[in-house]
Amino acid sequence: MRPPIVIILAAGEGTRMKSSTPKVLHEIAGRSLLGHVIEAAATIEPEHLVVVVGHGGESVNAHLEEVAPWVITVEQTERNGTGHAVRIALEFLVERGVEIGESPVVVLTGDTPLLTGASLINMLKQHVEAGAQASVLTTEFDNPFGYGRIIRSGNQVVGIVEEKDATSQQREIREINSGMYSFGGASLQEAITGLNRNNSQGEEYLTDVIAILTSRGETVIGVTAQDSSDILGINDRAQLSCAAAIMRDRINANWMKAGVTMLDPASTWIDVDAELAPDVTLLPQTILRGPTSIESGAEVGPGTTLISAEVGANATVRHTWAELVVIGAGANVGPYTYLRPGTVIGDSGKAGAFVEIKNSQLGDGSKVPHLSYVGDATIGSGTNIGAGTIFVNYDGVEKNHTTVGDQVRVGSDNMLIAPIVIGDGAYTAAGSVITEDVPAGSMAVARAKQRNILDWVLRKRPGTGSAQAAQRATQSDK
Ligand code: UD1
Ligand code: CA
Repeated sequence: MRPPIVIILAAGEGTRMKSSTPKVLHEIAGRSLLGHVIEAAATIEPEHLVVVVGHGGESVNAHLEEVAPWVITVEQTERNGTGHAVRIALEFLVERGVEIGESPVVVLTGDTPLLTGASLINMLKQHVEAGAQASVLTTEFDNPFGYGRIIRSGNQVVGIVEEKDATSQQREIREINSGMYSFGGASLQEAITGLNRNNSQGEEYLTDVIAILTSRGETVIGVTAQDSSDILGINDRAQLSCAAAIMRDRINANWMKAGVTMLDPASTWIDVDAELAPDVTLLPQTILRGPTSIESGAEVGPGTTLISAEVGANATVRHTWAELVVIGAGANVGPYTYLRPGTVIGDSGKAGAFVEIKNSQLGDGSKVPHLSYVGDATIGSGTNIGAGTIFVNYDGVEKNHTTVGDQVRVGSDNMLIAPIVIGDGAYTAAGSVITEDVPAGSMAVARAKQRNILDWVLRKRPGTGSAQAAQRATQSDK
């Protein structure tokens, strides 16, 4: 068998999405609807893959340039029906010297993200085995409303009739057309020139090709989808959320099979690009977006969102939002921690409760345990940043860098006014506002010296609860 040609129809406007984004560019599991269909189509190794886009398909084109530059797009400026869309795709290929005759042509739609490669492989296999010139992927729905109905005579599919054109008897048929097909290339090329627009929608129906091929004595079969969710089309936001939930369940089932523990798969959302090692544990309400990777033994969640993050072995990350960050092996993050792009937490490091870190690299074993902001900093290894410390990186115009050495002890409640360098092994006193570099090994104290005004309360606040308490204390001292 020659490698197939795949045509994906995606020129529809998707008005029911009520969106400024073209329907096929909506995403589930971190990939566009169209991207999912292309991914499934790639498993049958097409020689050419053509996507038919609608008028003004610029954003679809730009998206495909980025995610699947090997795909060809054809613009259908007038939406004259599924048959018309396939016809212009074929004409486009012929103009470019592609020999279609010998190849199977697989037609898909861009809004069926749950389609699997396995379904396509099965459809092509049965198509070839039956010696068919057309094979229609079908399923049975309890409520087939809106779909084209499959008209059979024994094993032969003799026609497909659209809901709007069907008789009340035909509307009783529960076997429906998924809108996905394999055709013999030459047969399709010939039959498609015979389409007319004598139907309720005034469109060229691709489905009419089935009756044309049957009347020529060709074999047309129906291939039942192995899983009816495979052909679920997305027309509105409710169907989008349904498909997303099915995709989530499939992805989670695969990771659990691969050795990942999930306490609550229903609240765990993992994008297609994530990589998880065996013995990762995900707690409820964990969301892993983009190419996030998690090494063995790490525990993530509850209530954590990681976007394009790397988490090392045996790390724990709780109640955290982190994007474009690296969390070292054995590190401890959270709860309630916000890690922004460019953050690196070293091995066995810590970013604790109510800590925000941006564009800063922390060496191995360094800790920011409580209530701090660290921005634009390089911190060595084995360093501890005291509770409530702020890296004052912004002078109102520019961001400035702070360098903190190895084994430094920054006291609690410090302000480190960047740009500044704190040398290896240095200490700073609690409550300091550090405005100058601190040499290695020294103690910096940068705060007003304390003075006590004795008996001030007795003189200035006589008769108050404070004054009475003070009086009792002085008496008991006597
Ligand atoms: C079509 C089928 C119907 C099937 C259903 C499955 C026809 C005539 N009917 O009906 O039997 O049950 O799909 O969902 O084919 N498109 C274009 N250009 C066009 C028209 C459509 O690219 O001119 C694309 C749409 O973007 C969509 C797909 O083709 O991805 C199907 O079009 P749609 O209008 O949704 O077809 P249905 O009426 O649902
Ligand atoms: Ca239609």
